[in-house]
Amino acid sequence: MRQPKWWQDAVVYQVYPRSFYDANGDGVGDLRGITEKLDYIASLGVDVVWSCPFFVSPWADGGYDIADYRAVDPAFGTMEDFEALVAGVHARGMKFVMDFVGNHTSDEHPWFQAALADKNSPYHDYYTFRPGKDGREPSNWASIFGGSAWEYVPALDEYYLHLFAKKQPDLNWENPQVVEEVLSILEFWADKGVDGYRLDAINYLYKEPGYPDVEPLPGSPYGFATAHYANKPRVHEHFRTLRSRVMGPRGLSTVAEVAYLDDETARGYADPARGELDMLYLFDVLNVDQQGFDKFSPLPLDLPRFKQALAHWQQVLHGHGWLALFLGNHDQPRAVSRFGDEGRYRARSAKMLANAMYFLQGTPYLYQGEELGMTNPHYTSLSQFKDVEALDALRAGLARGESEQHWLELLNARSRDCGRAPFSWNDGPAAGFTAGTPWMDPCADAAQINAAAEENDPDSVLNFYRTLIRVRKGRPSVLWGRTDFLVPEDPDLFVYTRTAEEEALLSVNNFSGEERHFPLPQGFAGGELLLSNCGAPQLDEEGVLTLRPWEGFVLLRKQQP
Ligand code: GLC
Repeated sequence: MRQPKWWQDAVVYQVYPRSFYDANGDGVGDLRGITEKLDYIASLGVDVVWSCPFFVSPWADGGYDIADYRAVDPAFGTMEDFEALVAGVHARGMKFVMDFVGNHTSDEHPWFQAALADKNSPYHDYYTFRPGKDGREPSNWASIFGGSAWEYVPALDEYYLHLFAKKQPDLNWENPQVVEEVLSILEFWADKGVDGYRLDAINYLYKEPGYPDVEPLPGSPYGFATAHYANKPRVHEHFRTLRSRVMGPRGLSTVAEVAYLDDETARGYADPARGELDMLYLFDVLNVDQQGFDKFSPLPLDLPRFKQALAHWQQVLHGHGWLALFLGNHDQPRAVSRFGDEGRYRARSAKMLANAMYFLQGTPYLYQGEELGMTNPHYTSLSQFKDVEALDALRAGLARGESEQHWLELLNARSRDCGRAPFSWNDGPAAGFTAGTPWMDPCADAAQINAAAEENDPDSVLNFYRTLIRVRKGRPSVLWGRTDFLVPEDPDLFVYTRTAEEEALLSVNNFSGEERHFPLPQGFAGGELLLSNCGAPQLDEEGVLTLRPWEGFVLLRKQQP
């Protein structure tokens, strides 16, 4: 069999440090907290720990607004704590990956402060400042978080560009000095033992000069300008520089958060022969239950569309690149609340979702708490939400005259805060997350759904994940097999085969609370049951399966020689 790279035959565990575990009782998760829980993480069988940002930050965007790239924020601990964490990860045979936020800094970063203080400072050109046009912004680009992407600075009589929050000015990658700064930051952490980087919002680095106006969104003067800043050709050049100068020589892996890309661009980024990126973290696959780009205009899950999106990337990248597989992260609501059944079939549907995703081609990313089937937190007051995106959307919604109750429901279903509530460790105060007052309220159901309870239950979601991670490892079909979706138009069934020379597998998943019938595909009768969330599949004499609500299983068949 072809030998996989370490990140190909791996499962990555993603930690959002502020909400994982608080070791010092100040209410905020910290690096020591992660270190204390490394045995738990390793017990899942995962290979890699990815931590979201823990650098000095005013926390305008959950730590993705960095004011000092080379220092641990005191809220998370010290550099010694970081070193102990990496050593602990390595001692358990795992790798450590961290975020690199290269599209923007915090407005409190000394570079930006110097840029604001003096137009002639070399730091002014680290960012994108432009004069206004007819007394307005230089263009009508919308910020991804809402409103204009330009912020006026009266003292300079100029606007600066921020694709995200106004406290996140975009760096100017056209300035070679910026690129050198970035390379040296990447080397700094590599020297401390980091094994790879998750490159944040990295396909937005290059913006079309001239910042052309775009079609405004309904009811807004601003419009989405992704065509002018996502995946521009110069980005490939930057990726090759990162690879040739740092990632390649240091043997670091890269996973890149990218969106809005076509097939050719995706292959361009990920084809090993081109030396750009290792893995693509394509989050637009998850835009299947909303209207357009607007996550706060939810739609029911369109399963055929979801399968189509996944099948598409499986096919485009097969033999041409590698995918990250995920249903949850710190930007998404909880997978079981969104795609499964939070109620009666919570545990079964959480297992089914994992069963559906983890046998596709790519590297699964397991977001903290997903392995417990943690649900959205179900807050009862708007004051419990913290995220900039949620609060901006709420403000705009209320200004349009929408009700608070409506927004409470929306934020409980769709906000990024849904995935950022503290990890539920046990049924104690603050879900065992902190001995102090948690910075965010725990989930309403933490007393029932928590790691301690699931540890003791052989049938728990947690123990299902352990089995799942073990059985997928090293399998030729999982690693290299061709993916074929069956019944692509079926609104409830998510069924695919993975075919390699040595073996083939079949993953069958019922995305509904109803019983469904489905003929067992040819060649899988008598196959080995690798994994199931309901026990043995129910198969009648005619070879028709009766799938129970939210049932999911995988059958393996050895290929005929
Ligand atoms: C990425 C991060 C998200 C952040 C954004 C801006 O999408 O995952 O949390 O807000 O980039 O840095």
